[in-house]
Amino acid sequence: MFKKKLMAVLLGTALAASMLTGCGAASDTNSDDASTTETVTEAAADDSTGSDSETESDSTGSGKKVGIAMPTKSLERWNRDGSYLEEQFSSKGFEVSLTYSDNKIDQQVKDIEALIADDVDLLVIAAIDGESLSQVLADAKDEGIPVISYDRLIMNTDAVSYYVSFDNYTVGKLQGEFVKEQLDLDNAEGPYNIEFTAGDPADNNAGFFFNGAYDVLKPYIDDGKLVVPSGQTEFDQVATKSWDTATAMTRFQNILGSNYSDGTQLDVALCSNDSTALGVTQAIETDYAGNNSVIITGQDGDEANLANIVDGKQTMTVYKAVANEAVATLDLGIALLNGETPDATLIDNSGWSFECTYDTESYDNGTGIIPSYLLVPTVVTKDNIQTELVDTGYYTMDDDGYPHPTN
Ligand code: BGC
Repeated sequence: MFKKKLMAVLLGTALAASMLTGCGAASDTNSDDASTTETVTEAAADDSTGSDSETESDSTGSGKKVGIAMPTKSLERWNRDGSYLEEQFSSKGFEVSLTYSDNKIDQQVKDIEALIADDVDLLVIAAIDGESLSQVLADAKDEGIPVISYDRLIMNTDAVSYYVSFDNYTVGKLQGEFVKEQLDLDNAEGPYNIEFTAGDPADNNAGFFFNGAYDVLKPYIDDGKLVVPSGQTEFDQVATKSWDTATAMTRFQNILGSNYSDGTQLDVALCSNDSTALGVTQAIETDYAGNNSVIITGQDGDEANLANIVDGKQTMTVYKAVANEAVATLDLGIALLNGETPDATLIDNSGWSFECTYDTESYDNGTGIIPSYLLVPTVVTKDNIQTELVDTGYYTMDDDGYPHPTN
């Protein structure tokens, strides 16, 4: 594995500026996304790739079309991803078709079929179900359309050229290490009670997140310092279909009713992401009799969760700068359309102002290893929201005292 650490400094001025500028066609984060497609063509006035080539021509993609398939608007982060991707590709003169498929697998297949029929030159796909796109992507391959698997690995198809994501195992590891430090597990006597809530089994990332966290905490579970009163420690037992907030809430209410109604103290709710953490936090508010403050983890920096962090109801989130994920995807896409076979040198050549690893070992989609560009996640707590999210330009701190995303 090749690791290249690039300027570990705050984001470049150009990128920060672009994030503040926002996207001309920003999505309505509250809208119902029953399969929406929007097409945008923009000769960009402002280049905002966060790369060294900012002042160069912005007509790189002119005459080319990119099809971007996102899962749903109902999980907050994908709205940000869609906006940033649209902004990045438009800034290079690409025609952009952006689809949201309402978390419906069949709909996403249809949306991708339509993008192929529309003769896109490149597909960027965040799959709803990583296992369900083999057929439609065989069609993409027949048409010679390169496919970038975005954030979530698409399984069982040799049509996927590359994977762009964050280091998903590290996301979980950061959550586990956070709990370990908060409870001082190496020194404290314990025992402490913990419950796990993981993500959607159809999402290949979900297992990485869970394993990353569980691997850190397992030694303490094995020696009895951490106890799981529900007994639910297997991924299949703690998974949450569609990462759905209400589903996570109901399951957690049941756990609290069955294992904590006798006054047993809950110390930690390890949640893989913010949508599940929101449901778990609600369950704790309504159905937990104790009055200790429960350590609750998350991931993404969703607006409601950041508000909960400010209010002390959620303890941390793992933030992934999806603005940078979009930058990496753009540069990779351009290289692919230029007929190149990108490798670790793409990182150097692009001059990204964020850290990224080129990985050719970790992600096998069933047809072989998919070369991956993995960005680095960050822990965000009440103490560093300002420096990590606001000073970097990803969020503004509004007069109400809560952070709001800038795109
Ligand atoms: C993403 C997470 C997100 C989850 C639910 C995962 O694939 O990596 O950032 O929380 O999907 O949307």
